[in-house]
Amino acid sequence: MAIRNIRTLGDAILKKEAKEIKEMTPKVEQLIDDMFETMYEANGVGLAAPQVGIRKRLVVIDCGEEPYVLINPVILETSGEQTGNEGCLSVPGKCGVVTRPNYVKAKAYDRNMKEYIIEGTELLARCLCHEIDHLSGIMYVDKVEGALMDVEDVEEEEE
Ligand code: NI
Repeated sequence: MAIRNIRTLGDAILKKEAKEIKEMTPKVEQLIDDMFETMYEANGVGLAAPQVGIRKRLVVIDCGEEPYVLINPVILETSGEQTGNEGCLSVPGKCGVVTRPNYVKAKAYDRNMKEYIIEGTELLARCLCHEIDHLSGIMYVDKVEGALMDVEDVEEEEE
C-alpha cells in the first residue's frame, strides 16, 4: 500500500467526469487499498479516485461505522434535508455550509464487482453525495452557501 498525492482545488482533473470501471484488475485493487490508506492518513471520511489523479468512478468512505468501496455508484433515492459544515481533502484547511439530503440510497459495486445497495442518513448521506459529486467533477465549493471559512476559526467558535 502507498499514500497517494491528493490533488487540490485548481487541478483540472477535479473538474472532469470520471469513467466507469468495467472489471476488477490488480491495478484497481491496489488503487482501492491506496485510497483507504491515503484517506485515513489525512483523517478524511471519504475519498474519490479523481482526488488522487485517477479518472475512475471509484469512491471509498469510512464514517466510523465500516469501510465502504463504491464502484460506479449511482444515487437512487434521496429525502429530507440537512444543512451543515462540509470539508474536502482537496480543499485543505477550509470548510463551508452545504445543504444535502438527510437520507440517500445508492447502488454500487463492491471490490468483488458485486452490486449492492447502501443507505445512509446524516454524515453518511452527506458523504455519499459529496463523494459521488466528485465523479462528475463537482466540488462542494460549487454548492457552498456563503463564504468558505478556515477550519481553525470554526473550531474555535465551537469551543
Ligand atoms: Ni471531497
